[in-house]
Amino acid sequence: MEKFSQSPTAPAFVQDPYPFYDTARRAGDLFWWTDYNIACAVSHKAVSAILRDRRLGRETPAELAGPVPPELAPFYDIEEHSLLEVEPPKHTRLRGLVLRAFTSRRIGELAPDITALSHELIDKFPPPGTAFDLLDAFARPLPVTIICRLLGVPEDRADDLLRWSNAMVAMYQARRTAQIETDAAQASREFTAFLTDYIDQKRQRPGDDLITQLIAAEEDGEKLSTEELISTCILLLNAGHEATVHTLGNGAATLLDHERCDITEACTEEILRFDAPLHMFRRWVYDDITLFGHDFKRGDQIACLLGAANRDPAAYPDPNTFDPARKGPANTSLGAGLHFCVGAPLARLEIRIGLDALFTRCPTLKLAEAPRYADLYHFHGLEKLMVTT
Ligand code: HEM
Repeated sequence: MEKFSQSPTAPAFVQDPYPFYDTARRAGDLFWWTDYNIACAVSHKAVSAILRDRRLGRETPAELAGPVPPELAPFYDIEEHSLLEVEPPKHTRLRGLVLRAFTSRRIGELAPDITALSHELIDKFPPPGTAFDLLDAFARPLPVTIICRLLGVPEDRADDLLRWSNAMVAMYQARRTAQIETDAAQASREFTAFLTDYIDQKRQRPGDDLITQLIAAEEDGEKLSTEELISTCILLLNAGHEATVHTLGNGAATLLDHERCDITEACTEEILRFDAPLHMFRRWVYDDITLFGHDFKRGDQIACLLGAANRDPAAYPDPNTFDPARKGPANTSLGAGLHFCVGAPLARLEIRIGLDALFTRCPTLKLAEAPRYADLYHFHGLEKLMVTT
């Protein structure tokens, strides 16, 4: 397997990782990323196949699961019960319960709320000609408010949720420091305490929300333990806003850089393909296997580079061109296989409705500064997006 070196925190890479992916992809479906010391799938074919291959998964093989340092226990206690970190049979049970509450009817019913909230946020934009950060004014508040409403968590706690969530998801970036770990453990403690209390209240006073439905699923044959319920709510809150914020930000920046177009379903998919907000997801190898001509042993890891798969010329002709009418294979931004994003219908709805409201209401929206990506790989999202209406 060919080796390539590239610091994930190098400024040029942070701003534009795609040339590196192109170089690596020219060497084959898989390459060895020396800075991470890991095999990476870089073609659309390899990423799609590996995400669907049941001989690999997200759960650490039992013999490799090392002891968790006690100071990080609050964080890893949540991960242990997270749908995203387990494999069947536990994954099947947890995902089934979440899907029972997370129905397409319930998501569809959020459309009027997403529209109304988008317009409320746009109403509060500063006067024309004044530069402002579209992430703060629009992309950040939209997803967190919607996920609060869906779960039934009070919206006045949105700031706390954002703070806890940011501290926890920071654990997945290339620059992980002792301070990040301490903050994540503290946030996990506070988030768990808040939800324990809140779930108790919901048990007394059920509502028409997802937490109430998950409690019902828990009580119905004790299928979802309280720890699982807490982990699931945290996962939905964390996963439910961070990636959506950055898709809205990257998408708005892309649209500002191109000719105006209607935000159709095809355009929504192209926004997801063109500049994915999450670039690297790992899989453990569970059997001794050969993939794309390379041998792997149980306990090896492979990283799937979603952002690279989406720009593979073998899957998408002229992949570095944003084409809102593009057809072609499903992009990999929302994953594939068993762990395919549970929130995909909600994410797509928020992108389509949110960006449509934005560009319809603000026909003269334009960049006030060149957008810059934050140095947080594997997250690929903007630091800020300064615009004027
Ligand atoms: C544009 C926005 C989003 C993107 C790009 C995104 C991306 C992803 C990806 C790539 C995965 C799979 C990870 C892997 O295979 O290792 C995933 C899983 C997941 N996502 Fe999303 N997501 C988004 C929005 C959401 C929303 C809005 C929610 C919930 C409200 C959500 C909830 C989840 C959950 C629960 C999983 C775990 C599913 C499982 O393990 O079975 N996501 N997401």
